[in-house]
Amino acid sequence: MSLFDRLVVATLPFIPRVIVGKVASQYIAGVTLADAVNVVQRLNQQGLLTTIDVLGEFTDRREEAERSTDKYIEVLDTIVAEKLEGNISVKLTALGLSIDPRFGRTNLWRVVKSAADRHIFVRIDMEDSPHTTETLEIYDELRREFNVGVAVQAYLKRTMDDVIRLMAKGPANFRLCKGIYVEPEEIAYKGREEIRENYMALLDRMLAGGAYVGIATHDEVLLNRSEELIKKYRLTREQYEFQMLLGVRHDLRRQLLSHGHRIRTYVPFGDAWYGYSTRRLKENPQIAGYIVKSFFGK
Ligand code: FDA
Repeated sequence: MSLFDRLVVATLPFIPRVIVGKVASQYIAGVTLADAVNVVQRLNQQGLLTTIDVLGEFTDRREEAERSTDKYIEVLDTIVAEKLEGNISVKLTALGLSIDPRFGRTNLWRVVKSAADRHIFVRIDMEDSPHTTETLEIYDELRREFNVGVAVQAYLKRTMDDVIRLMAKGPANFRLCKGIYVEPEEIAYKGREEIRENYMALLDRMLAGGAYVGIATHDEVLLNRSEELIKKYRLTREQYEFQMLLGVRHDLRRQLLSHGHRIRTYVPFGDAWYGYSTRRLKENPQIAGYIVKSFFGK
């Protein structure tokens, strides 16, 4: 990131939420479930699969975690009622894992059981490193009984060991992403190329070992190399999928569709949009730059 980009990102917290919200709206479906349904229906019509995320994370309030849990169950009902091509993505800290692990697990179990009753898959998002071990343990427990998968991060040095261990224990379903949180150097790769190398090493290991993988990236280098691996292992389109975030690189989505792959779009919605949106904007300082400029009127 250039010095200018770093400056732009550092300025973001001082920009009023309403202005950030205007530009960030490209990354979220809206505030209500009806907004999410509209977006999902539009994406489904374009031949895209979806995963719906109720925005929220790191909550320290029980009522909020319970509200998120109930909202997820409403989403599951709606997927069935509206016949949407979609599953759900959940963040454990939104369901109260950091308030009290038992409370968080009970909420998660309610969501996962409700999804199973409706034959809907659940993906557990991966959050920052203090939660990695517990998230993987919970995934490992749940997968014995339910149709669930977990996200893993290529920037973490531990991920290869985690993946090998999980794959040795049974069929695995991963979303492979680079990782979005700021992690210390001791545990995380920092260079663009070393993260890419680890991403490809992980993907190779997963595909060679028969894991189902959601290849979650907009990095063209990784997408090209992933397509080569898919050819190398002669995978059918049911054995993997590509995944992208709402509002990011429509051109690549169209390109992958035209190559015959399945693509799933991550569709976040809800009133807790600020944290998610500012992370997206920090990934893309060019857009963040427009906000800063428009705010300062230059
Ligand atoms: P990279 O950041 O290099 O981006 C490649 C290109 O994509 C850029 O050059 C730009 O053109 C475009 N681009 C990327 N971000 C953009 C943006 N915000 N706006 C506009 N253009 C943009 N992380 C995590 O820690 N836990 C998780 O559970 C998940 N889950 C998840 C699900 C899905 C479906 C995706 C696609 C990603 C995640 N992530 C995640 C986020 C992921 O870890 C990563 O931070 C982003 O995907 C950006 O990394 P890329 O691999 O896209 O490469």
